[in-house]
Amino acid sequence: MESMGALRRTHTCNDLGLGDIDRETTLMGWVLRRRDHGGVIFIDLRDRWGVTQVVFNPEVSEAVHAKAHQLRSEWVIAVRGQVVNRPESMENTKLATGAIEVFVHELRILNSSETPPFPLDEEIEVSDTLRLQYRYLDLRRPEIASNIILRHQAMQTVRSYLNRHDFLEIETPMLTRSTPEGARDYLVPSRVNAGKFYALPQSPQLFKQLLMVAGMDRYYQIVRCFRDEDLRADRQPEFTQIDMELSFVTEDDIIALVEGMISDLFSAARSVELRPPFARMTYDEAMRRFGTDRPDTRFGLELVDLTDIVRGCGFKVFQAAVEKGGVVKAINAKGCGQFSRKDLDDLTEYAGRFGARGMAWIKIKDDEWQSPITKFFSADEIAAMSRALDAQPGDLILFGADKAKTVHQVLSELRLELARRLELVDNGVFNFLWVTDFPLLEYDEEEKRYTAVHHPFTAPNEDDLPLLATDPGAVKSRAYDLVLNGNEIGGGSIRIHSPAMQQTVFMALGIGEEEAKEKFGFLLRALEHGAPPHGGIAFGVDRLMMLLTGSTSIRDVIAFPKTQKATCPLTDAPSSVSRKQLTELHLRPDWKEKN
Ligand code: AMO
Ligand code: AMP
Repeated sequence: MESMGALRRTHTCNDLGLGDIDRETTLMGWVLRRRDHGGVIFIDLRDRWGVTQVVFNPEVSEAVHAKAHQLRSEWVIAVRGQVVNRPESMENTKLATGAIEVFVHELRILNSSETPPFPLDEEIEVSDTLRLQYRYLDLRRPEIASNIILRHQAMQTVRSYLNRHDFLEIETPMLTRSTPEGARDYLVPSRVNAGKFYALPQSPQLFKQLLMVAGMDRYYQIVRCFRDEDLRADRQPEFTQIDMELSFVTEDDIIALVEGMISDLFSAARSVELRPPFARMTYDEAMRRFGTDRPDTRFGLELVDLTDIVRGCGFKVFQAAVEKGGVVKAINAKGCGQFSRKDLDDLTEYAGRFGARGMAWIKIKDDEWQSPITKFFSADEIAAMSRALDAQPGDLILFGADKAKTVHQVLSELRLELARRLELVDNGVFNFLWVTDFPLLEYDEEEKRYTAVHHPFTAPNEDDLPLLATDPGAVKSRAYDLVLNGNEIGGGSIRIHSPAMQQTVFMALGIGEEEAKEKFGFLLRALEHGAPPHGGIAFGVDRLMMLLTGSTSIRDVIAFPKTQKATCPLTDAPSSVSRKQLTELHLRPDWKEKN
C-alpha cells in the first residue's frame, strides 16, 4: 500500500475529452477492468462520475508497466499521466471519455481489494441477499449509483421549491407516541421509565398539526417514517416522506402547490415537462371504472357493471351474487378471443389469488357467444350485455361475481395482468391522477367497527355530517391521494381543527372520551388553543424515485434498504441483545434462549 503523497486529483473519471489532449492529469479511482494486450495493459478506471481508460505501456515507463501487472478488480489507485487521443478505430462512443486515454507515468497503489463476490462491470443475476450484504460494492455499480445521485438531485429540487414558497424545514421527534396511520408501531422501551415505550413515528402527522397551531404556517420535512407491516416491492419498514402542512388553505391550494413541486422535480430529474393541472377523479368513479383507488390510467380495459342486466338471469353464480347484495362486473379484453384454454386457466388461477371463486368468461365469435355459460342468458340479456361491453367479434369477456369489494379487487388485478400480457403499458408515459372524495370511514369486518380510511384527523365533508349518525360509511372526507401510473405516491387531507368535530369523529371510530383523552389528549388540548384551519400531504420519496428511475423495487433507490423480511444482510440487523440490556430496559423475555 502506498500513500497519495504529493499527488492530488486533477480530474474525475468523467472529465477528459478531446479538448484535453497532451494535458497532464492525475486521476484516482477503482480498477473496473484490466486487459492485457501484447505487452500493453489497459485499465478502465472508475469513480462516481464515470470511467476513463488508462494505459500502461512499457515504452512510456517500464517500471510503471511492471507494477501495473499486480492490479486486480476494485483495487484503488492513483495515476499521473498524459491525455492522448485514441486511434479512431479504438474510440468508445458509449463513454463520455471514449475519445481519449491516459498514458500513465506514475502509479500509486492506494489499496488492494478482495475479489468481489460478484462482478461489478456486467449485468448479471446476483441474489438480492448477496447484493445487500455487500451493498457498498453494489452501490459502485453505475445503475444503482445513478439512482442514489438522482435521488439527491431530486431532493435538492424539492427543498429549493419549498424554500421558495416560504416553507420552514422543521424536525420532529423520532422517539414519540404512536400516530395511527394504520400499521403496527416499532416500539422502543424506555430505560428510565420502567414499563413505558416510545413508538417510532409512522409519520409526523400530529407534530405537523401542532406546528400549525404554533403559527408556523408552512412546514416541510424530508423525514423517515417507520411502519411494521407486510413488505412488498413498494414498501419498506422505514421509508422517507416529503411531509408538508399548510395553514389557511383549501384542497385546491395544496393541490396547485404540489403540482408545481412535482413538475419541477420531473423537469429537473427527468427533463419531462408535465402540464398541470393533473387529472382528478373521485374515489367512487375510480372504484366503479377501475375497481381500485389507485387506477393506472395509461390503458383502458375498464370494468363494466352488469349487475342490473343479469339480476334475473338463469346463471346461478351471477344470480346468487346479486341476491346477496353483491355485484357482477366484467372486463372486455379487446381482441383476446383467441386466448387458449390454458390462458384462461392461468388467468382464473391468477384471479383466485385475489379472492375470486371462479372466473366466468365468454369468447365473442362472429355469429355466437362461445362459453359454457352462454346457455343461461336470454337473447335480451345477451344483447344488453353486448351493448354495455361494446362487444365485437374477437373479444373476450371476463366476469367477476361476488361482494363488490372482492369483485373490485379481482378485476382490478386482472386488468393489470391483462395489460402486462398484452403489453398495453407505455413505460415512457407519466399519468398523474388525483383521487378525491374518499370515504371518511370504512367498516372493518374483523374488528366489527368503523376505521378511518386515511387517519382520524381528516376532516369530513361538512355536507355529509348528518349521515355520521345514520350511514357512517357514506360520509365523504376532504382527503386526496396522488396516483402515478397506478402507484399511490402521496396522500393528504384538510384536517379537523375544531375540538368538538375531532371528538365526534373519534366517537364514530369507536374511540370513547376516556381513550381519546388518554391517547390524543395533547392534540385535543392544542385544538382548544386557537388551531387555524389547516391541511397537508405527504409523498413517498422512495416510490417516487422508483417510478422516476424506472426501477421495479424501491430497494433500488435506497442506499441501505431492508429485505422482504425486514432484515439487513449487511449489518445483520435485527440482532439478539444481551440479558443485561434487556434487564436494564425492564424487559423479561419468556422465549427460550438459543445457545
Ligand atoms: P400515508 O400513510 O398515505 O399518509 O403516507 C404517505 C405516502 O408514503 C408512502 N408510503 C410508503 N412508502 C414506502 N414504504 C411504506 N411502507 C410506505 N407507507 C406509505 C406512500 C404514501 O402515499 N400523515 C399522512 C400524510 C398526510 O395526511 O399529510 C401519511 O403518512 O407513497
Ligand atoms: P360453476 O357453476 O362453479 O361450474 O362455474 C361456472 C363458471 O362460472 C366457471 O367458469 C367459473 O369459473 C365461473 N365462476 C364461479 N364463481 C364465480 C364468481 N364468483 N365470479 C365469476 N365467475 C365465477
